[in-house]
Amino acid sequence: MDIKTENIAALALAAGKGTRMHSDRPKVLQKLLGEPMLAYVLAALKPLFDADIFIVAGHGADLLAQTFPNEKFILQNEQLGTGHALRVAFPDLLAAGFDYVLVINGDAPLAKTGTLAAFLEKAAGADVAFASINLEDAGSYGRVVRQNGNLAAIVEAKDYDAAIHGPDSGEVNAGIYLLKIAAVEPLLAEIGNDNKSGEYYITDLVGLALTHGLRAKAIPCGNDASLLGVNSPAELSRMEELLRQSQAERLLESGVLIHAPNLLRASPFASIEPGAEISGPCEISGHSIIRRGARVASHCVIRDSTVEAGAIVESFSHLEGAIVGPDAKVGPYTRLRPGAELEKNARAGNFVELKKAVLGSGAKANHLSYLGDAHIGAESNIGAGTITCNYDGKNKFQTRIGENAFIGSNTALVAPVSVGAGALVGAGSVITKDVPPNEMAIARGRQKNLPLRKKGE
Ligand code: UD1
Ligand code: CA
Repeated sequence: MDIKTENIAALALAAGKGTRMHSDRPKVLQKLLGEPMLAYVLAALKPLFDADIFIVAGHGADLLAQTFPNEKFILQNEQLGTGHALRVAFPDLLAAGFDYVLVINGDAPLAKTGTLAAFLEKAAGADVAFASINLEDAGSYGRVVRQNGNLAAIVEAKDYDAAIHGPDSGEVNAGIYLLKIAAVEPLLAEIGNDNKSGEYYITDLVGLALTHGLRAKAIPCGNDASLLGVNSPAELSRMEELLRQSQAERLLESGVLIHAPNLLRASPFASIEPGAEISGPCEISGHSIIRRGARVASHCVIRDSTVEAGAIVESFSHLEGAIVGPDAKVGPYTRLRPGAELEKNARAGNFVELKKAVLGSGAKANHLSYLGDAHIGAESNIGAGTITCNYDGKNKFQTRIGENAFIGSNTALVAPVSVGAGALVGAGSVITKDVPPNEMAIARGRQKNLPLRKKGE
């Protein structure tokens, strides 16, 4: 890429409510494959603009700032249209001393870095440039209007009238612009809202620039579906499917073995290494890492988790913020919550839940357990039905179990409590006091056997 972007800022427009989504959540926080739409746009911008990215936020601005704590936001208190959003952002852009700004709609999650770079290259020299695409159905997109082949204006769908503007050519505005800041600044005040929506349109800049004898340019980008916007649940769903497909294909080509790839939902933010084996249906999202030689069976949901080499995650397991160590085995039906970690060769079986808990190397919890705020030493065995009672209604407490300990079935470990290395706890115990290493603890009612009265006695 031979494109210099030091003097270009990026501005993502993300203040709109997204009325057509029928949701209280700001549109750009709607998720595709587990990641908010805006995360994709930012990921496409980052390699080109690094820290020079500004985001116009308005509807749900607090939530946006929370979701992207490292980004620079400009507040558009009232969402009066994309032209208004630009006007609100301009003082910051001027103050920062950039010559150009690339403006992109925050609802274009499939936009790629390469496409943006190519657009910048072709847009060079214009005062106002925008990407245009050709659609069979121009739908709600802004129409590119030409006179004798020459660019005349962008006319929004609602305001488009074939009788005035000529027949629909299918060429529409993709919602990506390169603006020369010094040239555009005087035009901002001229953007009006005398249109069907009563909004200030950024797209009016094209007609205005031409009226003022400035250089306005449409950069045709073919029928590149990656530039489409998301305006409704149906569009989101379609875009998500496109993204899913391309990600599954990319993984297959890289050397990941995928059974039923059409049923794998893998986020592009997750890293699945060549030589991993995955069976669909399966969902792998967030910043998950699945290493070479790891195997994930079908019907698993894995988010922000690492599955190391040689580890196996059996079907119907749910992992979030967890680490499955080398050669460890999880599932079927295991739930690993944030802070769960299985060290090498450890094993968590069906209906076992771990939260902030470490299962040391070779340790096993094979059936029906809750292990929370716990550290379990290497090679220990946690019997079926063991529960760490980590919460007294107000605070959380730790349970520590040493190496080679044996916890009998149906034990309640009332934290804070520790069981020493090599210790044994009898089944059915309620352990409230520390058990020293290599001792045996039994804490349950003694069994009494009483004679039964025979019939007639
Ligand atoms: C816009 C373009 C249209 C183009 C289409 C491409 C305008 C007027 N129209 O239409 O020509 O074909 O994108 O997808 O720009 N936003 C704000 N503040 C506002 C209003 C919107 O930040 O006051 C943000 C939204 O959050 C959104 C983006 O701007 O991310 C575009 O707004 P949207 O309402 O989706 O515009 P479209 O109708 O899709
Ligand atoms: Ca849109």
